[in-house]
Amino acid sequence: MKVGILGSGDVAKSLAAGFVKHGHEVALGTRDTAKLKDFVAQHKGAQAGSFADAAKFGEVVVLAVKGTVALDALSAAGAANLTGKTVIDATNPIADAPPTNGVLKFFTSLDQSLMERLQSALPSAHFVKAFNSVGNAAMVNPQFKGGKPTMFICGNNDAAKAKVRGICDQFGWETADMGKAEAARAIEPLCMLWCIPGFLSNDWFHAFKLLQKD
Ligand SMILES: NC(=O)c1ccc[n+]([C@@H]2O[C@H](COP(=O)([O-])OP(=O)(O)OC[C@H]3O[C@@H](n4cnc5c(N)ncnc54)[C@H](OP(=O)(O)O)[C@@H]3O)[C@@H](O)[C@H]2O)c1
Repeated sequence: MKVGILGSGDVAKSLAAGFVKHGHEVALGTRDTAKLKDFVAQHKGAQAGSFADAAKFGEVVVLAVKGTVALDALSAAGAANLTGKTVIDATNPIADAPPTNGVLKFFTSLDQSLMERLQSALPSAHFVKAFNSVGNAAMVNPQFKGGKPTMFICGNNDAAKAKVRGICDQFGWETADMGKAEAARAIEPLCMLWCIPGFLSNDWFHAFKLLQKD
């Protein structure tokens, strides 16, 4: 599969490394390709270009930029380059204000998630929320004593969610589909919960698991 990744930060690089490890081709998008020079040199199957280059390249596109600039990055990627494509939305709407007692501040409300804003701005792309509520170090084939962690996903397009489920299978996750885009109102704040042990106890390696009856 050809995967475009919008971003040059820890999430973009962790997911890009995961995709190439599993035999996919990756193009990362950034405003400054110099940031990715070492990464590309160390990862066969990865290349770097502009946001638009990455969006054009990917059959599937990952959005992995700072939440406050997600719309800017998508606009630089170009709506036409994302039309009909699955866009994995790993972003969180974290505000610039500092956390209070380890609890992050969001710039969204519980009645409208960031992913819903993005989906409304680009109605022809198929957004799927995923990878937002786990640290980048545990995104790809993490090993936990309690077994496979759960990736909570949501989005309006079933075929796009099926693609993301396949990626989660490959990356060692079980997937829990929470329904349509509105479910991102619940999934995005999982990031706040996930970060609390980090801010309070410097514990940054954990993940959520949904326990089922059987
Ligand atoms: N860090 C984690 O472990 C983690 C885990 C789960 C979810 N997330 C979420 O994933 C996203 C990425 O996180 P991150 O820690 O990898 O990186 P980050 O520092 O939040 O974001 C870095 C990216 O944002 C882009 N960016 C910054 N300002 C921009 C602007 N004005 N216009 C366009 N792009 C701009 C940068 O583009 P350039 O390449 O051009 O500089 C870079 O690619 C965030 O939304 C975060 O909340 C993070």
